[in-house]
Amino acid sequence: MKFGHFDDDNREYVITNPATPWPWINYLGNKDFFSLISNTAGGYAFYKDAKFRRLTRYRYNNVPMDSGGRYFYIKDDKTIWSPGWKPCKTKLDQYECRHGMNYTKIKGEKDGVSAEALFFVPLNTHAEVQKLSLTNNTKSSKNLKLFSFTEWALWNAVADMENFQRNFSTGEVEIDGSTLYHKTEYKERRNHFAFYSVNTPIDGYDTDRESFMGLYNGFHEPQVVLEGQAKMSTAHGWSPIASHYIEVDLQPGETKDFIFTLGYVENDEDNKWESKGVINKDKANEIIAKFNTSDKVDAALAELRTYWDDLLSNYTVNTGHEKLDRMVNIWNQYQCMITFCFSRSASFFESGIGRGMGFRDSNQDLIGFVHQIPDRARERIIDIASTQFPDGSCYHQYQPLTKKGNNDIGSGFNDDPMWLILGTTAYIKETGDWSILDEQVPYDNDESLAQPLFHHLTVSFDHVVNNLGPHGLPLIGRADWNDCLNLNCFSRDPNESFQTTENKTEGSKAESLMIAGLFVVYGREYVEVCRKLGKNEEAERAQQHVDNMVRSVKAHGWDGDWFLRAYDFFGNKIGSQENDEGQIFIESNGWCSMAGIGIEDGLVEKALNSVKEKLDCEYGIVLNNPAYTKYYIEYGEISTYPKGYKENAGIFCHNNPWIIIGETILGRGDQAWEYFRKICPAYLEDISELHKTEPYVYAQMIAGKDAFKPGEAKNSWLTGTASWNFYTISQYILGIRPDYDGLIIDPCIPADWRSFEATRKFRGATFKIRVTNPNGVNKGVKRLSIDGEEVEGGNMIPLLPKGHYTVEVELG
Ligand code: BGC
Repeated sequence: MKFGHFDDDNREYVITNPATPWPWINYLGNKDFFSLISNTAGGYAFYKDAKFRRLTRYRYNNVPMDSGGRYFYIKDDKTIWSPGWKPCKTKLDQYECRHGMNYTKIKGEKDGVSAEALFFVPLNTHAEVQKLSLTNNTKSSKNLKLFSFTEWALWNAVADMENFQRNFSTGEVEIDGSTLYHKTEYKERRNHFAFYSVNTPIDGYDTDRESFMGLYNGFHEPQVVLEGQAKMSTAHGWSPIASHYIEVDLQPGETKDFIFTLGYVENDEDNKWESKGVINKDKANEIIAKFNTSDKVDAALAELRTYWDDLLSNYTVNTGHEKLDRMVNIWNQYQCMITFCFSRSASFFESGIGRGMGFRDSNQDLIGFVHQIPDRARERIIDIASTQFPDGSCYHQYQPLTKKGNNDIGSGFNDDPMWLILGTTAYIKETGDWSILDEQVPYDNDESLAQPLFHHLTVSFDHVVNNLGPHGLPLIGRADWNDCLNLNCFSRDPNESFQTTENKTEGSKAESLMIAGLFVVYGREYVEVCRKLGKNEEAERAQQHVDNMVRSVKAHGWDGDWFLRAYDFFGNKIGSQENDEGQIFIESNGWCSMAGIGIEDGLVEKALNSVKEKLDCEYGIVLNNPAYTKYYIEYGEISTYPKGYKENAGIFCHNNPWIIIGETILGRGDQAWEYFRKICPAYLEDISELHKTEPYVYAQMIAGKDAFKPGEAKNSWLTGTASWNFYTISQYILGIRPDYDGLIIDPCIPADWRSFEATRKFRGATFKIRVTNPNGVNKGVKRLSIDGEEVEGGNMIPLLPKGHYTVEVELG
């Protein structure tokens, strides 16, 4: 069952039934000021950091679901309704929500009045702009009462939820004409405030929640709206809100626009006040003035659209497969930008208070994004590397506002350092900017410890080398990529977190085959970087470590039909036929296959065949099998999940691409494509009632074959799935892959695809690429020509001056 449809021309998903199986959301803003908005206008806004600078309040775990947001209430005689259906839930005559690239339009119609609300954060603006257009489609005049509503958060989203003995007394507001200011804590240590403004004189306002709402009323029945009269309340403590009241007369056929601006301002210490106790509003007024007419708002939206035209023009395809094209050209790239901005911090599954930017996550997010805005990727790499320790280990997460490592989570995830090599080399391959390696980058955010970024790659590499276990395989530490495989925890206390509790590494033999494969793949990358820099001795040294690792994996990491997953604390096998449960895992088989370990002896083929046989199901490839059915104290969190969910045999979409890339290395294009399609959201639109999350973005997890409800997804939007799938489809299936000295073209496609076209901008040049497959093969470039000239014996487009080029590629 569908709840809407794609509108590819406008790059929108159009929701036509507001009662989606889960709130289907969108993100506004792509730098500094952000908002989340659901298809019923729920959600919240924040500045830079969802934990420390939360502007508006939102309640997770709420009943009903998705309560709180930016709401408009329209009172038309006795009927009260909202354009987004919620919170009033008055039955609408028409409803439509269009989620586009960083904007959302929600339109409702009731009794001949239509209300269309546009929400977006204009480029380089610290505000969410909302344009509400009210139209009277009837033959008689209408006298409507319009109320806006938003609830302020007291800045720190954690304290906002718990420190009530203080919170209920601190709230402060200021009211100035049509602008309602939130200035809690401004008089002491904060130099920022927020405001909610409308571009018309108002007939009333409220800033105190209980006055507006009525203490025992829900969002759907604010007392003020029921009575049709604002109370002109000023908040003193309790819960400050902002609500405008406007009386709107509409003649038949008439439309009126109202522009609301929800903004954030920071003032310098000596410029904080206009007069004693009165905040300096200059910057707020500037923002308000920038968007106070419909023309200005429309122009800002057009600018945002152009910005996205530009971003998405770097890689476009025409494969003849509508669903694939819309994912590659629009939604997958869009999701990559969103994960780049938010890492795993703020979504309808991530509370915005628990996690900042992940070290491994943000490095992986880069590979789906670097072709769009390389400058921001560069900055990100440096931010991430600055949280590394001199021995190569690193903070698992850092806070976006402070850019400092997060002490609550700490360090010790032994895969983390290797991802820095991925992020950095992906950046250099895209841009050719080798200078990044000379950048002085602090360790542990301490400038006095700064070293060139290249040094960070060396210590990353060496962190694995210096932490090998009894089989010469990498020690796992707290966990590897699979945060839930906690082999050194032995946790008995339900009050402790598997990720942060004491890690009993003393005497541990816990080794990871996943890190082993990862090390071979990115260790080779490191070797290549050294060679390119002429550091041949270092390249030799590193190559030896890589070769040793390959030997160790072959000697101690092969289980007969697939790669083992790990050795536990005591040195027992995990992911082996010897185990009762969890006999085979996806991660080690993915990474050792990507590394091609034992490919010459058929190990990769065998491993991937086993994955197909044991882990594949209707909805994707599950993480492990058989699922764990009891708690294994020596494995940790993985065995706490019910079978089929999350890391315990769920389809963890992030890691499916590792198998897909492995398949392309073997040249099995049909298999690669089948796996790709299974988890690709646009292909799941028809089963939205089961899949549950948005059909336009990937979810972190789909319940696996052992689950109670296979096929049901959770945790959409902020997942490494976005970048890995884009990387896989663009670079390995369609096969257009940036490299240091050119653009490699090496597709691996289903045999029955006869052709496809792509446009790729690369280092200033634009390539129009046409791939034909007359003989129906999966892989193998027979001929490649550029502007009619054949490139001898290769599948690489060399670096070329700026300009447009036509590239013909024939497979066979
Ligand atoms: C985390 C990743 C982790 C994955 C698997 C995700 O929620 O963000 O860092 O690799 O789970 O455990």
